[in-house]
Amino acid sequence: MAVVLTARDLTRHYEVSRGLFKGHATVRALNGVSFELEAGKTLAVVGESGCGKSTLARALTLIEEPSSGSLKIAGQEVAGADKAQRKQLRKDVQMVFQSPYASLNPRQKIGDQLAEPLLINTRLSAAERREKVQAMMKQVGLRPEHYQRYPHMFSGGQRQRIALARAMMLQPKVLVADEPTSALDVSIQAQVLNLFMDLQQEFNTGYVFISHNLAVVQHVADDVMVMYLGRPVEIGPKHDIYARPLHPYTQ
Ligand SMILES: Nc1ncnc2c1ncn2[C@@H]1O[C@H](COP(=O)(O)OP(=O)(O)O)[C@@H](O)[C@H]1O
Ligand SMILES: [Mg+2]
Repeated sequence: MAVVLTARDLTRHYEVSRGLFKGHATVRALNGVSFELEAGKTLAVVGESGCGKSTLARALTLIEEPSSGSLKIAGQEVAGADKAQRKQLRKDVQMVFQSPYASLNPRQKIGDQLAEPLLINTRLSAAERREKVQAMMKQVGLRPEHYQRYPHMFSGGQRQRIALARAMMLQPKVLVADEPTSALDVSIQAQVLNLFMDLQQEFNTGYVFISHNLAVVQHVADDVMVMYLGRPVEIGPKHDIYARPLHPYTQ
């Protein structure tokens, strides 16, 4: 199996001011995170609020540089990659946020937003782009007439389907999803989760799936990483973690 993502001892520190005359304190938001992710597999990341999950997501998707450590995407080291390589790496790792409004532009038609990654990164003609967008829309349960609509005209669940569709347009090697269903009604969470799983099968994407909901994790994960204060306190196959959780937080 191909390893699509390798993190070795990733850290991310923030310097925060403690007030006018008190100098700075260091927040160790990520403190030595290591894991491997294979194509088509899901690593679920769980942990309480503030333990560093979103910081990890931003580091993995190249939104923020780690302070130290190594990150490899499909075997390519991120640190030291030149501009062209970075552009490729950014295509290979996509993100879905908790709020689809963070992923979608409220003023742009859905069809155009889905076509945009193709416009920027491929040489497909307008007709070819439109065809691909419509195929993806169908795959995520949207109708052709939705192409002309704006994000606010959809329900929360539909918007998250659209955000997922957009993230998958370039068939990334890795998808990082940060609490993608926690803002949705419980009644539609399962449908959206199933869609994540369907697209993973279709495209053989590696998922880093962040959640604080253990039922969600049980449903989607192959491996589970439990984080506590910026560190993984437990990592392994889902069945092992659920069978014999060792760390007090996991219990
Ligand atoms: N830009 C930032 N500046 C300073 N501290 C930050 C910043 N981003 C996150 N933190 C701190 O890092 C820790 C981890 O935050 P975060 O990754 O958002 O946790 P989670 O997503 O697990 O709730 C928290 O203590 C948070 O306050
Ligand atoms: Mg978070």
